[in-house]
Amino acid sequence: MTEGSSIRPDESRRERRHVVIAPMRTSDLSAVLRIEEAAFDEAWSRRLFEEELAQRTSRAYRAAWLGTELVAYGGIMAIDDEAHLNNIAVAETERGTGLGTVLLCDLVRTSLARGLAHLTLEVQVGNEPALALYRRFGLAPVGVRPDYYGPGRNGLIMWVRDIDTGDYAERLSAIEASVSDRFEVERRL
Ligand SMILES: CC(C)(COP(=O)(O)OP(=O)(O)OC[C@H]1O[C@@H](n2cnc3c(N)ncnc32)[C@H](O)[C@@H]1OP(=O)(O)O)[C@@H](O)C(=O)NCCC(=O)NCCS
Repeated sequence: MTEGSSIRPDESRRERRHVVIAPMRTSDLSAVLRIEEAAFDEAWSRRLFEEELAQRTSRAYRAAWLGTELVAYGGIMAIDDEAHLNNIAVAETERGTGLGTVLLCDLVRTSLARGLAHLTLEVQVGNEPALALYRRFGLAPVGVRPDYYGPGRNGLIMWVRDIDTGDYAERLSAIEASVSDRFEVERRL
């Protein structure tokens, strides 16, 4: 065997990172706003986040941490038995690593724990990373809101119904399994 051709199992495996997902607190907002302002033209203000966090019964905002760094966040609003995804964003340097997937799994589990049965959101037409993420969770387009994000920037309305069924539980477990080689997820309630 020539030098360098031996396979060392540890090297063929990617490092598994420990991510903690916890309720967002007002003390998280400086870090949240840095990600928010880099991610969106029409970023939410600190005041708006504070108002959202204060509505504890109808909202659930979650923050994802790698060590001491807040790297992603997202939140849902409950209306009847529907979870409306209000926002989701990953720090630019961490995108494409599976963190968005991990966070959306958490937000779906958070919605289920609150007894919600359906999930909906709006996304800008052409936001391919977000669309790829949402499709994977079974979200499908049902309509367009013209100019929702400003002139010429249409919003796509997406829904996935019956997330509280056995079929969807299987889908969610499969998505979680697909990122489990990259992330060890600790969910704090
Ligand atoms: C949308 C967002 C949250 C996704 O987070 P992420 O950590 O990059 O997502 P993941 O790494 O889990 O990848 C999710 C899917 O997007 C795909 N994806 C990631 N980056 C992509 C890119 N630049 N182009 C196309 N697809 C991409 C991945 O391949 C994956 O699809 P798959 O599951 O079919 O393989 C992140 O890109 C982001 O913060 N964007 C800015 C804010 C935003 O647009 N939020 C959504 C508002 S509706």
